[in-house]
Parts: sequence; structure tokens; C-alpha cells
Amino acid sequence: MKAQDLKLDSTNIDVIIKDMTLEEKLNLLVGSQGNVDTDATAAVGNSSTLVPGAAGQLNGIRRLGVPYVVMGDGPAGVRIAPTRKSIDKTFYCTHFPVELAMSATWNTELVKSVGIAMGNEAKHYGIDILLAPAANIHRNPLNGRNFEYYSEDPLLSGKMATAEINGIQSQGIGTSLKHLALNNQETNRTNNDVRGGLRTFREIYLKPFEIAVKESQPWTVMTAYNRINGVYASESKDLLTDILRKEWGFKGVVVTDWYGGQYATNQMIAGNDLLMPGKASQVEEIKASISNGKLPMEIIDRNVKNVLECVVKTRSFKGLTADNNPDLRTHAILTRNAAVEGMVLLKNRDASLPLKAEVKDLAVFGRTSYDFIAGGTGSGDVNHAYVVSLIEGLKNAGFSIDSEVQKVYEAYMKVMDKKYNKRNRMAFLPKDLIPEMELDSLDLNTIAENNDAAVITIGKTSGEFMDRKIEDNYNLVEPEKELIKKVSEAFHKKGKKVTVILNVCGVVETNSWIEYPDAVLVAWLPGQEGGNSVADLLTGKETPSGRLPMSWPVNYNDVPSKDDFPTPELVSKEDWVKTLVGFMDERTTGNRKNFDVTTYNEGIYVGYRYYTTENVPVSFPFGYGLSYTSFSYDKPCVIKESNGDIKVTVSVQNTGDVAGKEVVQVYVSAPGKDMDKPVRELKAFTKTRKLNPSEKETVTLVIPYESLASFNEKENCWQVEEGEYKVLIARDAMDSNPLMMEIMQKGVVTEKVRPYLLSR
Ligand code: BGC
Repeated sequence: MKAQDLKLDSTNIDVIIKDMTLEEKLNLLVGSQGNVDTDATAAVGNSSTLVPGAAGQLNGIRRLGVPYVVMGDGPAGVRIAPTRKSIDKTFYCTHFPVELAMSATWNTELVKSVGIAMGNEAKHYGIDILLAPAANIHRNPLNGRNFEYYSEDPLLSGKMATAEINGIQSQGIGTSLKHLALNNQETNRTNNDVRGGLRTFREIYLKPFEIAVKESQPWTVMTAYNRINGVYASESKDLLTDILRKEWGFKGVVVTDWYGGQYATNQMIAGNDLLMPGKASQVEEIKASISNGKLPMEIIDRNVKNVLECVVKTRSFKGLTADNNPDLRTHAILTRNAAVEGMVLLKNRDASLPLKAEVKDLAVFGRTSYDFIAGGTGSGDVNHAYVVSLIEGLKNAGFSIDSEVQKVYEAYMKVMDKKYNKRNRMAFLPKDLIPEMELDSLDLNTIAENNDAAVITIGKTSGEFMDRKIEDNYNLVEPEKELIKKVSEAFHKKGKKVTVILNVCGVVETNSWIEYPDAVLVAWLPGQEGGNSVADLLTGKETPSGRLPMSWPVNYNDVPSKDDFPTPELVSKEDWVKTLVGFMDERTTGNRKNFDVTTYNEGIYVGYRYYTTENVPVSFPFGYGLSYTSFSYDKPCVIKESNGDIKVTVSVQNTGDVAGKEVVQVYVSAPGKDMDKPVRELKAFTKTRKLNPSEKETVTLVIPYESLASFNEKENCWQVEEGEYKVLIARDAMDSNPLMMEIMQKGVVTEKVRPYLLSR
């Protein structure tokens, strides 16, 4: 075949590579912004020209039949521009619950079905690869992007990421498992050096990625911005070639986070195949490194091959066109139901929820009741057509809402909105929520007299570039606490109930105010149907079955990493602005604690691994959540298979009066004699189907022998400790009365690895 007739297909990639010019190869490895002369002006996270508002695109090579490939965010749904110049049509996408809310469902099948819907929308809108899911661990509750991540637990995170990837990719759309690895803070994220031990990294922070890569083969993996023990994640050969590819068997493309890392040459060598969104200076740097011998051509060809192998799988390569017409109605129903399953009932004094049939008139307080928050800000945001507010949801469910209270709130918000919107200069930055309204203008006694019950929403949001503040984001501010207290007192005087809805991006402090309301429901950032989803639970149409995917400490000071995490209060505006510039080009240098360098001194003791081992009380433990019904467990059958796997079979019965689902959580307590071990670790979980009263389901869970292994830093191996393991079926991580069985296990080295990432 003559060279000019060559067209890419899945069988001729090596021939195509031989035929490619250097220019063409570099055009493929450096995203399409690399063709633009100026680096710094590229739009952050919006650089696709084919699909406006999508995060970026790869260059095509017409001569060889290589199409342009479009990458778009993100984890809560497809993020593209909702309108286009001179086109009389909208391009809205479904805003699904954020990842945090999805993991609170503990339902992998449901997460997969949301993945299918997201992949389907991506396909309709011309996105080839969805930049999701994100599997970073919730190391500290103040991380501004925790809402985009699943959990503090590696198993839950890994299984959720697997489910989402399998869902999206079943639609012929690629995924990008991100951000590998240790991107656990937003403050100075592009420069921060994460320092810690190999065991900590392997067992806690790399584990979700390892699980997802092995169980779902994402088409791409996105590297993190930060450094790891001195080396940028995107420049770490240990991480990208040796661990990700050789150890875990990853077969796809490694892509940078947008403008991530420092030297394109190092990235190419490390195995970071694709640089996104691409800068002209990267092309120049790579060319120079090739000519001066620093960068062998085989490396370039290897990376090109990885990219082309991915390109041939894309919808663009297959010639599918975008009809821009996804089934948003069906997806709206899905997001409504998915959000319901992730909501967690924290408190329900005297079974005050579901609201009794005679409750008809509701007084609704809190600014976010009227302006419900669907998701967080930044690349994880979605341009949705609408958000169902709490009052709309309640009205749809047949309640009548106190119009006087509504009027006062709406008037207040109108005035404040103008003032606050002005301050939200860059759309990508976290939004300043308007402060909670003081109650002076409301006569609470009369309102309590005129209504059957009260509902209060407390809203907190966060997003990229900034971590959460302790004082007005993690903790409730005084006007919010006052609101809960005063409304509760006024309604209780009349013998009426008060429910607090937490429309929040993560953990908030509850200890100082939770005694006041009768019920507290965590709605998280539940997507565009949020108000309907909450109403489904308040009315009892559905029964809560969400469980916390992270611990809720009594106080921020109880958090194990509290001294090793930046609080935004400590970062000067000047430094913060510098890190924004650093996002593009400059690199800050220095040694400032938690800014330039963050040390993971708490080691593997993250979240419940710390609270359970050190016996530190929490407000609500990992795995916690109430229901409107109750469940009993029969005596479980626990057997050890010949390969050491532990098989747990147990029957769960709905012993209450309404239908509901139960999350079955299996923890393991290792002997902890030869190795330092947390007192409990989640090793398996599942969720029952919806069980009617007195209905039973028998579930079987398997704990693979290898999953009992810990990482031995001295010997560089995964090792199972010999001795007696306690297998616990517990309602949550701190359940003091779990069902318990004992199993003896042999001590074996399950895998020996090379000593990667030990640069400190
Ligand atoms: C985020 C990524 C995102 C990318 C593209 C970055 O700022 O960290 O998660 O996929 O932008 O929008």
C-alpha cells in the first residue's frame, strides 16, 4: 500500500507510526492548545473547539485518518457550554449527584447505571472521553474537592470508581480515572509536594486506583498536579510505568491534568503519554530533547502507540456524529432516584420522619431551601437546565409552603444575590454563598402556630482551587445555629417537629446544634432533582438507605491530619493568587508547611482507621445511617476457601413496617501482632434489594485473601499476617455490638515489588 493511502485502523498502528512525521507525532501527544501560539491565554478547562465548553481535544491527522478526539468533564455529568453562538438550541446536561453522594448509596449497580446515563449523554453530545471518575481519598474534611471524590475508605472508593467506569465505558465512551495520585488538597495543588511513606501511599491512596484499573481498565488515567516525595506525579516513572502499567496491568493512555507537571520531557519518559490541553512550548521542549539525545524516539513512539490504540476505540474514530439530543427526561428520573439512595438520615427523634399524613403546611427556612445547591464548582460542575429547589420539591409532593416566610426569604435573597454575584469574578472559583438571613423580620411564634412542621436547609459548597474554611464552611456560623435553635424552640413549644436538611459538600460540625431539631437528613449536593429527592424521603415515599462514606468528627481538632493540612485562613491572598498563576506556568518554590510541602504524618490512620484505633469518639461514624425500618441478621455462615478467601453468607430480614434497603458492611480485625494494623478495616459490602416488611434476602460477600495483605515497607512486599482474623458484620465502623466470627489465616507474601517512590 502506498503511504498516502494509509488510514489508521486497529490493526495497522505500528505501520502508521512508522509513516508519521515527528510533527504529527508531537501534535498527537500534545493536545490541541499546543497549536495555539500563546500558552497563557488558553481557557482553563474549556479548550475544545469541536464541542464548545468541553475541557479539551486531541489533534487529528487527516492524512492518516486520525480524528480529533474530544475530552470533557466530569464526575457529576457532562460539562459543556449550554448554549452556542447563533444556534437556537440548548445543550444542557443532566446534573447527577456528586460522587460523594453516589458513594453514600453503597450501591455499585446504581452507580453503574448512572455511569451508563453519563456515558450516553457524552455520546449524544460528541464527547469521546469523559474526565471521570475521581478516586482521591478524603484525607481531610477541608479538601475543597472532596465532593468530587468518593470516600475516606480505599475499598469503597475503588469499587465505586469501578462501577462508574464500567457504566460509562459500556456506552463506547472512554473514562479518565483521576487524579493519580495524592491530590488531596487544593491549596497550591500544582506545586505541593506530598511526603509520606510507601505503606501509606499503597494501602490508602493508591488502592482505589489499583482496584479500578484492575477491575475496569479505564481508557485513560489522569495524573495529579502535585509532587510525590519530590517528583511531579506526571513525571514519575515509578508511578506511571512501573506501578500503573507493569504492576497493575494498565493498558490505556496516561494524560496530564490540565497544564499539570513541569517538564514535558520528563513526562514523556515517565509514561505520561498525553499532555493536555497542550502548550506550544511543550512541543518545542520535546523537539529540543529529541535533538540533544535526552529523549529517545522509542519513548515517543511508545506513547504515540498508546494514544492511537485509544483513538481507534473512540466514537469519533467510528464516525458517530453527535445528535445533541440525549434523553434528559429519563435521566432526570434516574438522578432523582440515585440522589434519594445516597441521602443519609443522621437523626430521627421519636420517628418524626417520615412526616405524618396530617402534616400539610410547612414553614421552610434557610436560604438554600429556596436556592438548592445541585453540585460543587469548578470542572466538576454541570450546566444543568434547572435545579429543583426544596420548596419546589415539597410543593410537588403536595405540601403547602408558608408564603409569608417564602416572601421574606426571596426578598432577602434578591438583594443579597446582586451583591454577592458581583464578587464571583471567575466562574470556575467556588461561589460565595450569601450569608444566612437573620430571623428578626419573622414572627416565629405565629409561624409555628400557622404551620404543621418546619424544615430548615443549611447549605455549604466548595470547589476547585480552594480548600474549605473551618469557620464558615466546616462549622456552621452563628446565624445558622441561631436559626436551628430558635425555629426548633418555637415549633417545639407548639408540639411540632423540625427537620434540618444538610445540603452540603462534605462533613460539617453537628455536635453544637444537633440536640435542637428532631430529624437531620444529609442531602449532600444531590444534583438537579435535589428538592424532589428530599421530598421523596420526607413523605416516606422512599426509605433512607444511604450510609456515610466518611466519619463525621465531633470537632475539626479531632481530625488526624489537622496539623498537616492547609487551612485557607493561613494562606495569604498573594500566595493564593500565585498558585493560580502556577496553574499555567510558574512554579512556586519553598518549604512552607502544608503549602509547598504536606507531610502525611498520620500514615494509614485516615478517617475511621484512626478514630476506631485510637478510640476517639465521633459524631457519626463511617458507615452510619438510619432507616424508617429495621433489619435483623441471621447467624452468618463464614467459611475459608482453600485459597484463603473468606466467604460470608448472611440473611437479612426487614423487621419493620415499611419497605427498605439495607447496607451490609463486613469489616476485618487483623491480628496486629507482627504488623501495625487499624482495629477495623472495611473488606466487603453490598446492598440488599428493596425488602418489603418481613421479607428476607441472603447475601454472599467474598473477602479475597490478598486483600488482607498490608504493605511491608522494609521488604517491599504485600504480606498477610499470620494469625486469627475477626470477621465483623457491623452496622457502621464503630458498631460496638457486631456479629463476629474468627478465622485463622496463614502468613504469606502475596506480592513482591520493587521499591518505588522511595525518594525520601
Ligand atoms: C481538574 C481536572 C479536570 C480538568 C479539565 C482541572 O482543573 O483538576 O479534574 O478534568 O481541569 O477541566
